[in-house]
Amino acid sequence: MNPAVLCSKTLFIVAGAAVLTNAASAQAPDATVTIQVDKTAHAVSPTLYGLMTEEINYSYDGGLYAEMVRNRTFQDHGFGGVAHWSIVHLGNSAATMAIDQAEGPSAALQHSLAISVKQADPGNQAGVRNEGYWGMALRPNTTYKGSLYAKTDSDMGPLSVALINNNSGKPVATTALPAISTEWKRYEFTLATRDIEVSAENHLLLTVGHAGKLWVDLVSLFPPTYKDRGNGNRSDLMEMMVAMHPKFLRLPGGNYLEGDQIDERFDWKNTIGPLVDRPTHRSPWSYQSSDGMGLLEFLEWAEDLNIQTVLAVYAGYSLKGDHIRPGPTLTPFVEEALDEIEFATGDPSTKWGAVRTKLGHPAPFPVKYVEIGNEDEFDHSGSYEGRYAQFYKAIKAKYPRLELIATAPLKRMKPDVLDDHYYKRADEFFADVKHYDNADRNGPKIFVGEWATREGSPTTDMGAALGDAAWMTGMERNSDLIVMASYAPLFVNVNPGGMQWESDLIGYNALSSYGSPSYYAQAMFAEYLGTEVPRSSVSGGGERFFYSVTHDPGNGLLYLKLVNASSVPQPIEINLPGTISVDETATLISLSGNNPAETNTISAPARIVPVRTTLTNAGVKFSHAIPAYSIQVIQLRAK
Ligand code: AHR
Repeated sequence: MNPAVLCSKTLFIVAGAAVLTNAASAQAPDATVTIQVDKTAHAVSPTLYGLMTEEINYSYDGGLYAEMVRNRTFQDHGFGGVAHWSIVHLGNSAATMAIDQAEGPSAALQHSLAISVKQADPGNQAGVRNEGYWGMALRPNTTYKGSLYAKTDSDMGPLSVALINNNSGKPVATTALPAISTEWKRYEFTLATRDIEVSAENHLLLTVGHAGKLWVDLVSLFPPTYKDRGNGNRSDLMEMMVAMHPKFLRLPGGNYLEGDQIDERFDWKNTIGPLVDRPTHRSPWSYQSSDGMGLLEFLEWAEDLNIQTVLAVYAGYSLKGDHIRPGPTLTPFVEEALDEIEFATGDPSTKWGAVRTKLGHPAPFPVKYVEIGNEDEFDHSGSYEGRYAQFYKAIKAKYPRLELIATAPLKRMKPDVLDDHYYKRADEFFADVKHYDNADRNGPKIFVGEWATREGSPTTDMGAALGDAAWMTGMERNSDLIVMASYAPLFVNVNPGGMQWESDLIGYNALSSYGSPSYYAQAMFAEYLGTEVPRSSVSGGGERFFYSVTHDPGNGLLYLKLVNASSVPQPIEINLPGTISVDETATLISLSGNNPAETNTISAPARIVPVRTTLTNAGVKFSHAIPAYSIQVIQLRAK
């Protein structure tokens, strides 16, 4: 669809933005791109594109972490701890439920849900139901693995466990646990569906057929997970990340690392070991984190994607302004970080490597970069300079090969790497694509640890993808300086109340997931990364035309990335002087929208997806036109 012409041939409205254009031409001024394939400007950072994640927008709980039971340890803030649970009386049974602050299965989980059943019999059962994270996705002929901790005050007979369809009220899978003990014990069960319709409109039901008092805690249910990991991840979201061709995973934040207060930081020691020993904690994004995704699960997630971890350690500053002064009071936090690094990278003979081994992972994880804090420029006390120096000295003394990332510019020392963050509108990115072109090459290397064009909600739109792609051309051109870059936030649960941060990359509900146009733009740039940036130049072209070019001499392929963020096509003359020959046939991957506001949604997930075609007119000199609102990669075979 063409933008609406509003007045006298010159004013076009493009999704709310007024754009002046030449009425006579239905295309942008010609551009000439000249690429000297035989002259390398610099290497491309092999780790340029990666992932950044934290617990935000129900990224883990209600997202990647495949747990289906919401508020499984009764620690959610709402409704006195019983949010997402409700009492169920079948027939003439009678029961109430309440949090019992004095009864819990472990030192970490000191309270539980008490269900007082006044009246029930096997034909008239009573109990509780859990609604899941905006439902529970069930698929046909699938086995779901569950477990719970429970105790009773008397013999209450078996505990029935069922998955019930919300609409029909009928069970779709059932099982029963033997009589529950009067001591806390862990019970496991499976629930197997048969030939059912795929649906998220289901809940979990726990009932008994005898009067008495039943306590339950850590009620858990998992679908089959990616690579069949216990306590594992959703396969669809893992596959979406694989398709992004990432090279690293930055974790665990973001604000989530810091917490609002110091005791709400990501306190990694509370996130390892059996789930019953994890106390859970409040995330700064306003909900309780189950910590089911703990440090080991994070590291295994990177391992499953076959990528490195960029490990961010808490550095003594929390979001509401509390900070620890450098010196002796900071020492315990430095030691906490050293232990964390040892947990991730130490061999099994080390103290924390042995703990990891006991938890089932003897092999150390590959970690090259450790990030000291997050966005410490917000610490207006000025303590970061000293805090970074203290962490740097201690970490380098024990791990000299680690590269340490600073999260704010430093005056007194040069960090190995500096983490820069950019959240902008598309127009701002268009204007800033040359940001690093003249940056100091003697300063620290750059990690663009968070960046995104913030347009579109809950996930970004085509206009944002164009802003992102323009910015990526600048990052590729400067990938001698920029060693890594990761978009943020990665995930959003699109259900009402699921989003805390607008404009995210991948959206999902309990049942399915989809990529925004920005997701596809990134996947395209990362898939066709190349190893070298050849010398190149451009003349002419419209104001919203951007390009980058990389080369992989190993496979003889040249990747030309083109971005046309204008409302008219952009003609381009492509010259490859010094090239002996270029195959006539080239691969063209195109991502196009009809207007900047066009987007993908959970119900229309594939409006804007990359389309692969073939060009047949490639050569050492050839013409091409990139359509309006388009991002393209041309893969050329050049000798
Ligand atoms: O990505 C969302 C937030 O933006 C991150 O938690 C924080 O680091 C930044 O301010």
